[in-house]
Amino acid sequence: MTKITKITKDIDTAVSEIKSGNTVALPTETVYGLGADALNENAVVKIFEAKERPRFNPLIVHVYDTDWFERYGTGIPEDVYRLAEKFSPGPITFIVKKKNIIPDIATAGNDTVGLRIPSHNMFREVIRLSGVPVCAPSANRSGMISPTSAEEVIKELNGKISFILDGGRCEVGIESTVIAFTEDEIKILRHGFITKEDIESVTGKKTSDYSGRIISPGLIKSHYAPETPLYLTENLDKLIKYIPDKTGILDFSGYGSPEEIAVNLYSELRKLDEGGYEKIIGEKIPDEGLGTAINDRLERASRGKAKLTDGKIILSDKENE
Ligand code: TXA
Ligand code: MG
Repeated sequence: MTKITKITKDIDTAVSEIKSGNTVALPTETVYGLGADALNENAVVKIFEAKERPRFNPLIVHVYDTDWFERYGTGIPEDVYRLAEKFSPGPITFIVKKKNIIPDIATAGNDTVGLRIPSHNMFREVIRLSGVPVCAPSANRSGMISPTSAEEVIKELNGKISFILDGGRCEVGIESTVIAFTEDEIKILRHGFITKEDIESVTGKKTSDYSGRIISPGLIKSHYAPETPLYLTENLDKLIKYIPDKTGILDFSGYGSPEEIAVNLYSELRKLDEGGYEKIIGEKIPDEGLGTAINDRLERASRGKAKLTDGKIILSDKENE
């Protein structure tokens, strides 16, 4: 059923949506989320439906503070608390063993749950006032570009939800870092604003990228993608004079830092996607610190590579490689 989607700044409206078992879009410091009461199965189902999200993709459960970790998780490693003390509220998600109170649908049948304390005050107030944990994936249609403002949520989910709580533009711009724990190592399931170096310096442990069976669809190769195919090149500088008409250029050279790129990444992609181009050509940034997370998003958003051969730009799709 089509709904009328309204943008509001009224926290009580969002709280009442959560309490009535509905979905509501909420601001976080990373990207906007589509929230629902994590303890209410029927409410959680509505998230999967609105996003057309595959049911095998688990949701992050947002809580008010670290006192809530033990309510929903069990056997929580000390490192979680060490990291939370430093980085929470903030863009980091901890995968821990779940308690039964969290319905299986929220975790897509996994016996683990991703816990995160978002730092946006409006979101935290919604959690505190509704008194329940709020599961919230990014508020985009599954596989598409994550929204970083209330207006961008409208572009993704207009007619699918009744309210968007407007908390302004997201400060961070890319999703939280998702990590899991083994005896002696920390696995990074998704790179984000909190970097590998940040995690290693707090825990004194090594991190490694998770590379096993896909349990985290943020790991699926195509994700965060514009509808206009994006091709990545290693040397935009050299290519630039050969770029044909109707090609959008994703150019970060005007930005002063990776932080600034992260804040603007999804809006830039969305603008180019709406620009009437046939394709978009862009370039990764140096693969260090926050650059790793940005490049990861670019890679997953891309259709393939662009190369210069004999004065012509050759595009090759990923699946043909
Ligand atoms: O910054 C963020 O994390 C945003 C805001 C709204 O909080 N949320 C977000 O949610 O990005 P979503 O659903 O788009 O991405 C969550 C990622 C997915 O890759 C999911 O597979 C992974 O976290 N995840 C969640 N629970 C998990 C679990 N129990 N085991 C493994 N991966 C999990
Ligand atoms: Mg997402």
